[in-house]
Amino acid sequence: MMNDLDYNFYRVLFEDLDPARLMKRFLELLLKIQNVERGSIWIREKDHFVCVESLGGPSQIDIIKGASIHADEKSIVGWVMENGRMTIAEGGKDPRHFKAFEKHMQLKSALILAFPLILRDGQVYGVVQIVDTSAGGSRLNLDDHYLRILKSIVDMGAIAINNALQHTDQIARNRKLEQTLREIRNRIQIIGQSASFLEAMKKVRDYARTDFPVLITGESGTGKDLVAMALHNLSSRKDKPFVVQNCSAIPETLLESELFGYKKGAFTGASDDKTGLLMAATGGTVFLDEIGDMSRLLQSRLLRVIQNKEIKPLGESNTHKIDIRIISATNKNLNEAVKEKTFREDLYYRLNVLPLHLPPLRERKNDIPLLLKYFIKRESLELGHFQKRISDEALSCLVDYRWPGNIRELENFVKYILSTVDGDMVGVTDLPDNYKHPAHRQLPGGESLPFADGAPSGQPADPAGRPDFPFTGLTWEALDKAYVRHLLEKNNWVVTRAARDAGMNRSTFDSRMKKLGIRK
Ligand SMILES: Nc1ncnc2c1ncn2[C@@H]1O[C@H](COP(=O)(O)OP(=O)(O)OP(=O)(O)O)[C@@H](O)[C@H]1O
Ligand SMILES: [Mg+2]
Repeated sequence: MMNDLDYNFYRVLFEDLDPARLMKRFLELLLKIQNVERGSIWIREKDHFVCVESLGGPSQIDIIKGASIHADEKSIVGWVMENGRMTIAEGGKDPRHFKAFEKHMQLKSALILAFPLILRDGQVYGVVQIVDTSAGGSRLNLDDHYLRILKSIVDMGAIAINNALQHTDQIARNRKLEQTLREIRNRIQIIGQSASFLEAMKKVRDYARTDFPVLITGESGTGKDLVAMALHNLSSRKDKPFVVQNCSAIPETLLESELFGYKKGAFTGASDDKTGLLMAATGGTVFLDEIGDMSRLLQSRLLRVIQNKEIKPLGESNTHKIDIRIISATNKNLNEAVKEKTFREDLYYRLNVLPLHLPPLRERKNDIPLLLKYFIKRESLELGHFQKRISDEALSCLVDYRWPGNIRELENFVKYILSTVDGDMVGVTDLPDNYKHPAHRQLPGGESLPFADGAPSGQPADPAGRPDFPFTGLTWEALDKAYVRHLLEKNNWVVTRAARDAGMNRSTFDSRMKKLGIRK
């Protein structure tokens, strides 16, 4: 009887999200309710019905679990799938019975009770069979009321199983997405199509075939680190270490021990031998970033290493042969530094065998839309967001913008808009003020700034073809303010340069800024 059920079937159905375990427990529950030993669960997969769980089959030749029946074949499973109704069938006699499976079994099915597994929307995705193998099928309780209660348990089970299957499917899909994301993140993608950029990339490929030192120059954020790594990855040293040392961020003595290493006891505090990076990178590439900031003392030591291809760690008497390729980078003008004697000329020529200049973003404007698209795609994927689009008008502002921080600034800009813009279209009003066209910019008084690169713009021309006078409605002071701000922005807020553009000296320009209340 159903009342005798010592099972808490709610727990069976709802506490397990593992489909295989859940189906087994579900089937056990049904068999227990009907007091029989044999049963199976079938799921539709394209044009087949596959048995995903089977209990009570003869153990050595349990050919049922994992078996499949073609949808065109006559079978009870197929009939229930198609009709979406429960059925009772006599094994061997019912014309729908698919007998092939039972050929080798000692205990044949006498009576088969089959229920559809139905989703909330009515779709039948599977079938559960409860099989009585006793003579004449006398054990199954076929009382109408009893079967109705059984059916409602099966209906609940059907939903629970489907939830578990979808949950597992979702986990598998998430894993796959995470994997793809990891691959995307680890892959070095260098984006650009402008002529000057492609020229630089060709050099990267050419240089990668040699072992000569490369000096990468370019403003901050133009991709020097990225390109150095790409160069290493394209070279025959790619499976050997790629070691990076920033020469500007740390004190001279620390940089010295990082690069050249030392012997235990070489100085107070040297309690162990330390292998320097130049030695650790053997066979590979050393990337010396911000080389322009290296002290004269270390410049001499580095020069010696390059000339002799050997290294002598501090406090050690022996020298070690090393085989490294040196890539260095700077955003300083090393030529100037050589003239000013802050950088050794001989070292400069040793490092600058293969020069590689990365152009600033404002000199390759047609890469801007491409880079925006790339970063939006990458970051949206990471955030799990839909990809926002940028309106034509906003894009034209961004292409005109000078990007003093180059690609790093653009990358940060994308993170900013993805975090702050709610809709899926980024418009001009979403842009921070300094990214807008001068014509879109609001002055403190609410007037718009009428300059773009020194020329009045954003104003309609009059029908006679003469440009309309763009300053209408502006007070003298607002105009003055707009002009000073324009010059400052044009010169990245370097006051001396803005003053030069205005044709005045710095202190006059400074006091004008003060008077107008413009602060850096
Ligand atoms: N062409 C490019 N395509 C895709 N991403 C790029 C490209 N160039 C640079 N980046 C990305 O822009 C950021 C800045 O690049 P990177 O650190 O290489 O610049 P940098 O020239 O070394 O700057 P700094 O002088 O400040 O050290 C990095 O996140 C980098 O991945
Ligand atoms: Mg860098």
